[in-house]
Amino acid sequence: MIEDLKEILLDEKEIRAKVKKIGEEISREYKGKDLVLIGILKGSVMFMADLMKEITIPCSMDFMAVSSYGSSTKSSGVVKIIKDLDVEIRDKHVLIVEDIIDTGITLKYLIEYLKTRKPASLEIACLLNKPERRKAEIDVKYIGFQVPDYFIVGYGLDYDEIYRNLPCIGILKEEIYNN
Ligand code: IMP
Ligand code: MG
Repeated sequence: MIEDLKEILLDEKEIRAKVKKIGEEISREYKGKDLVLIGILKGSVMFMADLMKEITIPCSMDFMAVSSYGSSTKSSGVVKIIKDLDVEIRDKHVLIVEDIIDTGITLKYLIEYLKTRKPASLEIACLLNKPERRKAEIDVKYIGFQVPDYFIVGYGLDYDEIYRNLPCIGILKEEIYNN
């Protein structure tokens, strides 16, 4: 799998250090608050699991699934809810946990959708940010790393469901998806 990467952008150690830092910030800023982490399946699973272990205050978790790119590397711009929340979020402090923000269309849609359930607060923790392709303006409270405008895989991020189990994050070779 690793041989399909053009370049490794972030190794395990760098990711771990950043996730720890974000976990510490969340623990400080949400102390005494009823915190719910909402992971967006499936890309956020690694980040969600590691982040939760770095959070030292009580918190609960839930997941949502939304339509993704499928096997294409370009966003369709259409968001569809495939799995909704199981828990009630009214009056709770909600933190959406996402792998990467690219156009911002997915998160923008989710924010508007979840707002209607009247959480006490609604923020985003995103591991990776690809700012060059942003189409929808959104505030992201916690951002791990900026990444360049290439197709990125590893640590939860996939291409056609593969590469999620790579412990590092890197740029996928173009010949993998251009044939
Ligand atoms: P957005 O709506 O364009 O911000 O896209 C967000 C979703 O697209 C992310 O949650 C990822 O699942 C997927 N995505 C965006 N860029 C990449 C990438 O470089 N590699 C893998 N998945 C990506
Ligand atoms: Mg995703």
